[in-house]
Amino acid sequence: MIHPSAMVGEPPETREVLRDPAAAERAAGRWFPRIAGSAHVGPFVTVDSGTWRHTSVCDGALLLAHSHVGHDALIGRDAEICTGAVIGGHAEIQAGAKVGLNATVLPFRIVGRGAVVGAGAVVTKNVPAGEVWAGNPARKLEDHERDPRPHTERGILAAVETMPTREFDHDAVREAWEAIRP
Ligand SMILES: CC(C)(COP(=O)(O)OP(=O)(O)OC[C@H]1O[C@@H](n2cnc3c(N)ncnc32)[C@H](O)[C@@H]1OP(=O)(O)O)[C@@H](O)C(=O)NCCC(=O)NCCS
Repeated sequence: MIHPSAMVGEPPETREVLRDPAAAERAAGRWFPRIAGSAHVGPFVTVDSGTWRHTSVCDGALLLAHSHVGHDALIGRDAEICTGAVIGGHAEIQAGAKVGLNATVLPFRIVGRGAVVGAGAVVTKNVPAGEVWAGNPARKLEDHERDPRPHTERGILAAVETMPTREFDHDAVREAWEAIRP
């Protein structure tokens, strides 16, 4: 699903392209991004067109709200790019890897299969598969006993446990939505 507010196929913001509108059009059209059918592209996501290959987002990948995927980048199968994260041009986020909230992966870097990049990290070196890196510049977090549940799930469960329980009024929500729908 590609959210209607997402911008897929923006020309890459290189100097040449910004100076030359015709080059911008060529760049956006020639290497238009390839987004797999089962990928999720959330609200206000931007995905640049490529400059020498297609920017690609593979099956099951999640691009959450306000994230950005730079030109020629590859987002692997089931990888998760969290809200506000920025993936530099030509970077590769391999299958099942997760890039945390507001993290930045510099151009050409590789985040290996199943690796986790912590919230707010700046990845300046390749992250080996399965490792957890955080900080600016990002470094490997020493192994310690981790909660076996995914980090996001831990947060969600904690929040749910403290929420007051009440009936969710689906009809009221639907009515409110119908009233404001354009
Ligand atoms: C990096 C991360 C995976 C580590 O999780 P964890 O293994 O459970 O780590 P802990 O919370 O036990 O923290 C371990 C240490 O790393 C530090 N740390 C944790 N996350 C950090 C981050 N993002 N940046 C810098 N340091 C971090 C902690 O302060 C702690 O340091 P200390 O030992 O000096 O006290 C996690 O903190 C994170 O950032 N996850 C991303 C969450 C996210 O973006 N979710 C998206 C929702 S869509």
